[in-house]
Amino acid sequence: MAAGLIAPSSALSKEWPGARITGANDKIQVGLIGCRNMGWGDLNDFLLHKDVECMALCDIDRKILDGRAAELEKIQGKKALLFSDYRKMLELKELDAIIIGTPDHWHCLQFVNACSAGKDIYVEKPIANYIAECDSMVNAAKRYNRVTTVGQQQRSGNHWKAMVEYLKSGKLGTIARADVWANFNYGALGKPIPDSPVPADVDYDTWQGPAQTRPFNEQHFHGSWRMFWAYGGGLMTDWGVHLLDMVLWGMDIKGMPKRVTAFGGKFAFPGNCPETFDTQNVIYEFDSFIMNWSHTGGVETGPYNRNYGIAFKGTNGTLVADRDNWEIIPEWDSANKRNRLLESIKVQADYQDHKDHVSDFINCMKTRSYNTACTIENGSLCAKYTHLGNIAARTRSVLVYDDNSKKFAGSEEGAGAYLMPSYRSPWKYPSI
Ligand SMILES: NC(=O)c1ccc[n+]([C@@H]2O[C@H](COP(=O)([O-])OP(=O)(O)OC[C@H]3O[C@@H](n4cnc5c(N)ncnc54)[C@H](O)[C@@H]3O)[C@@H](O)[C@H]2O)c1
Repeated sequence: MAAGLIAPSSALSKEWPGARITGANDKIQVGLIGCRNMGWGDLNDFLLHKDVECMALCDIDRKILDGRAAELEKIQGKKALLFSDYRKMLELKELDAIIIGTPDHWHCLQFVNACSAGKDIYVEKPIANYIAECDSMVNAAKRYNRVTTVGQQQRSGNHWKAMVEYLKSGKLGTIARADVWANFNYGALGKPIPDSPVPADVDYDTWQGPAQTRPFNEQHFHGSWRMFWAYGGGLMTDWGVHLLDMVLWGMDIKGMPKRVTAFGGKFAFPGNCPETFDTQNVIYEFDSFIMNWSHTGGVETGPYNRNYGIAFKGTNGTLVADRDNWEIIPEWDSANKRNRLLESIKVQADYQDHKDHVSDFINCMKTRSYNTACTIENGSLCAKYTHLGNIAARTRSVLVYDDNSKKFAGSEEGAGAYLMPSYRSPWKYPSI
């Protein structure tokens, strides 16, 4: 099917009224772009709200679209309108909000288009695949006065909030370092497989969208696109936005680091198919501490017996955190022969982060509050950090990024070329 055509759908429902219902039955109408995995998970938590309905689904894979349409009808007892072209979906006047659950290379254009169509937006993380795209998205949300949030659900997590409070209390002493790591098997994918014909139900040209075209291969398609530069940034961006965000929050960082340097390579599984690094270290320098990122794809063990996590190293103790809990490991005070921190703390997660994150967004839509739990500005800041980590590793540089001039200071060879994508025609870069 050619890009830009609405799906000729026998499943197109007649149940939706042409105009908004008003009064007691008025419900928030949501549409989902990208139905396979996380977008569908997001939508399910929207549908826990009795005053929310999903009016439209959009996907370029007809099998996925039809499958999700059937599931949705069971959940809400009502059919949705089905689309293969998100732009057609955005024309629906009744739609209040859009969930963007597509691969990262699609987020920016879909987000900006949804803003100009007057929709509120829940966009998945990382908000974009390039630093310049982050700025366009922030500008679009402002220009069109949209309520937006980013799928960095830790921002709504109660044990994460308690962690930030603890860090603010100063009990940990001086924090000179924050170590962040993420080791996952999927980061190494597998051995390369040959390109293959495009599956009959898939509009692969639209899936590629603004990215440069390449032959179809299952290995860079659904789910695993993350490990290919045109669509994602590997474990660095995939997990980096979630975890670095917690450090930026906990350490109250609102701007760029002083310097960034990084090393990466395909060291663990050199023959495997990812383009992104299976092994990578990034050091971010601030005035009073350093933040260290590391990942090793293809292994699932890590420091403190956690395959991913954060360790805030204070002079009185270390706070170690992940999605399950956080705890304090005290330093030993040899002069007084006792721990520097006497209290024993372990705070468990309640696993409500995602539900609470969605609820927060819905409440903000209703009250027209732009101060969502994870604003687009916040998503932008954090996405930039992860892209800087990748750019530093790809250019083997020490980077100083000036977020006012939108340039690298000094003479970092070639780094500027990684700031902005070149969109494939007919898609146009949304400068805004
Ligand atoms: N917040 C979280 O914890 C979390 C977890 C997983 C994924 N994510 C994020 O969610 C996003 C999606 O990841 P995923 O794992 O669901 O990917 P996926 O590949 O499983 O699903 C993406 C879906 O988007 C569809 N799609 C692609 N281009 C499209 C287009 N132009 N129009 C309509 N549909 C299109 C695909 O066909 C597919 O169904 C990513 O940004 C990812 O980083 C967030």
